[in-house]
Amino acid sequence: MARKKIALIGAGNIGGTLAHLAAQKELGDVVLFDIVEGVPQGKALDLSQCGPVEGFDASVIGTNDYADIAGADVVIVTAGVARKPGMSRDDLLGINLKVMKSVGEGIKQYAPDAFVICITNPLDAMVWALREFSGLPHSKVVGMAGVLDSARFSTFLAWEFGVSVRDVSSFVLGGHGDTMVPVVEYSTVKGIPVPDLIKMGKSTQERIDAIVKRTANGGGEIVALLGTGSAYYAPATSAIAMAQSYLGDQKRVLPCAAYLEGQYGVDGLYVGVPVVIGKDGVEQVIEIALDEKAKAGLQVSIDAVKELLVACKAIDGSLA
Ligand code: APR
Repeated sequence: MARKKIALIGAGNIGGTLAHLAAQKELGDVVLFDIVEGVPQGKALDLSQCGPVEGFDASVIGTNDYADIAGADVVIVTAGVARKPGMSRDDLLGINLKVMKSVGEGIKQYAPDAFVICITNPLDAMVWALREFSGLPHSKVVGMAGVLDSARFSTFLAWEFGVSVRDVSSFVLGGHGDTMVPVVEYSTVKGIPVPDLIKMGKSTQERIDAIVKRTANGGGEIVALLGTGSAYYAPATSAIAMAQSYLGDQKRVLPCAAYLEGQYGVDGLYVGVPVVIGKDGVEQVIEIALDEKAKAGLQVSIDAVKELLVACKAIDGSLA
């Protein structure tokens, strides 16, 4: 069987980490694309030289030519600029929208059958714009946010309860921004919902509220610590989990920014919800019942995403 091809658009911090993970896990041969000359080639050469040590046969090439992504099975997009301290994800909108246009056109021309995962921020608007510019089916273009946000939530919950992260399962819905909605009721330790754990005296409502807040600001906390750039290890590994579910038809239930057509009362927007990812891309959107507080939180988040789309349409008339 021919090897799969993984194209990574953007060879920065996340792109380089993605390339390393994709090669190590032998998801397929890796093509690392960037507009900056030398960087993708240099990173690809460095990563190729990991092969003999780590024992992978995947090839890693760097390029500045979209033609090299031809026939890619998966495309992961990190092209654009990342946040600096004091910036919100939304501050990146104008610059990254232009980037999505060129990336979308490149994908449309060379990899129209790919499963496309967008990571570029502001995520929910950029994944929508990338879909518009590429013209691919909505089920094949998805945004990476929820896997990362719930990984952050799960990490903090595991620390709070003093248990293995493997036994924590958590849910985060909504846009990938300060308005995201970590859903405490659906977050569990080995099936025990967090509200029950509070009743059992394992934590307090105040401490869980603080964790919810820390999760929503999870990216900002790292931006402030790094001083330059934003998080990249966990974002990369989260996107790889999504790619693996697609390539292996695993049908994992993963929270992703997916295109909604009526679900959760939303039509025509990308919003973070649990979906099933398999060989056809987003195969199902799972609609969970939400209590009034979560519903209200989700509405605030949806409104924030809507505002970003209005801004996108004002910048680029072709999106209106
Ligand atoms: N086409 C291709 N690559 C581009 C383009 C473009 N039009 N414009 C910029 N790039 C490249 C840059 O040259 C850089 O190598 O995108 C890369 C971005 O890398 P970093 O600045 O290291 O950013 P990174 O941390 O990887 O984050 C990328 O993901 O999480 C989001 O907010 C983050 O939007 C940012 C993106």
